[in-house]
Amino acid sequence: MAEQADLIIFGARGDLAGRKLFPALYQLDYCELLSPKTRIVCVARDAMPRETFLESLQPKLQSQIQPERWTEQQWQKFASRIVYVHLDFNSAEDYVRLAAELHCAVRIYYLATPPSLFGPICQALGEHQCLNDDSRIVLEKPIGHDLASSVAVNETVAKYFSDENTYRIDHYLGKETVQNLLVLRFANRFINTQWDQSCIDHVQITVAETVGIEGRWGYYDKVGQLRDMVQNHLMQLLCLVAMEAPNSMTAESIRDEKIKVLRALRPIDENTITTHTVRGQYAAGYMGGQPARGYLNEDDCTVEQSDTETFVAIKAHIDNWRWAGVPFYLRTGKRMAEKLTEVVISYKALPHNIFSGNPASNNRLVIRLQPNEGIEMRMVSKLHSLRDRMALVKQDLNLDFLGSSAMGRIPEAYERLFLDVISGDQSLFVGREEVEESWRWVDGVVEAWKRQNMEVRKYQAGSWGPAKSELLIEKDNRSWHG
Ligand code: BG6
Repeated sequence: MAEQADLIIFGARGDLAGRKLFPALYQLDYCELLSPKTRIVCVARDAMPRETFLESLQPKLQSQIQPERWTEQQWQKFASRIVYVHLDFNSAEDYVRLAAELHCAVRIYYLATPPSLFGPICQALGEHQCLNDDSRIVLEKPIGHDLASSVAVNETVAKYFSDENTYRIDHYLGKETVQNLLVLRFANRFINTQWDQSCIDHVQITVAETVGIEGRWGYYDKVGQLRDMVQNHLMQLLCLVAMEAPNSMTAESIRDEKIKVLRALRPIDENTITTHTVRGQYAAGYMGGQPARGYLNEDDCTVEQSDTETFVAIKAHIDNWRWAGVPFYLRTGKRMAEKLTEVVISYKALPHNIFSGNPASNNRLVIRLQPNEGIEMRMVSKLHSLRDRMALVKQDLNLDFLGSSAMGRIPEAYERLFLDVISGDQSLFVGREEVEESWRWVDGVVEAWKRQNMEVRKYQAGSWGPAKSELLIEKDNRSWHG
């Protein structure tokens, strides 16, 4: 069981807290993984009694928990941990009131707020006796909007929290299957020894979502899919696929290897931007047979025209010994045909095909991160037949993680991440250098888009993105998996 802590959640009435943070904490409490003395101090602007806060939290939370895990007794146990503090971010008195509520030696400040508030909140915590030697801060992405703003946020936070006490969340790292990428690569010799340019033809990373902008239009339109998803989640997946083996599983060793990958990423500039990237924005279409609105017709859209991308495809290269000549094709978008996160490792063809009459076939390793978490290895084997002397068939070796999970469910990323912050383990959190290096690369792409006035191509909601994204890979005589 984790040690006792005060978990102080800023933005406790926000979307992230409601959808991810409270359900994760409830699950940890249900599994008896939280110390009985751990308290959840919920901080938000609205003045209201604790009971009113609990009344608004309860139905939302219950709707996200498996019915067999929800009982009145379990809810009461969880609710008894909750303290509600209303706080105006600019009021000194309010911070003094907050400090008076804190009892545990370990204080974990979770900032589920817009990044513009990270600096002011840290400063106020520092100035109003809210911090002690074991105060930790958890920062949600995005950390900044570009390299310069990210450096500024990191500098301000560093005045009040040491790097060992700063936890930068990329929730993809908390996903069980994403961690499994490390195990797959570094605990299986036969995979590890085939993991480079001599065996691998190319890599694909797809993070497709069916959701649209869902009430976040104001935020999203200033950000777009490149900053919202590629700068963090896709870059982290790319690092885990491409990095060398760390010496150990410590945060430092893992970060050291990831940073080398980010530094080896070939910049995309105005000469390569049009051949190596595609931008798209969803137009009206159909999702699951139902009409779906376009980006510019979403409820909270306030403009008639926007060139914010909701889809990006990129052909990236890592200029190092291991990956020379191996393209990494990345794509991610909203309102796509399916929710799907997968990494596809496509192996090179064999040097000579001895099975005449059968087309040469390439092996593929598909790592399905969500949904249907598992691993699929595309193999070739003989068709059992007397009629055909030697006909070959493609078959998949399939490893189904949910089926093999002892828990009967795969824990959510935030459950793992909360436990790690409480126990002081930073290995699944992103280091400052990684965040900044990734921004450096993304800023280059944004700059090149601007210089080339890069077109945002429409795609139908419910499709796989603009046709140009197929061309990005097909011109190299390859195709997207599936
Ligand atoms: C968030 C992005 O970080 O990740 C969202 O801001 C996106 O736009 C979400 O929808 C996707 O997370 P998941 O876990 O549902 O794949």
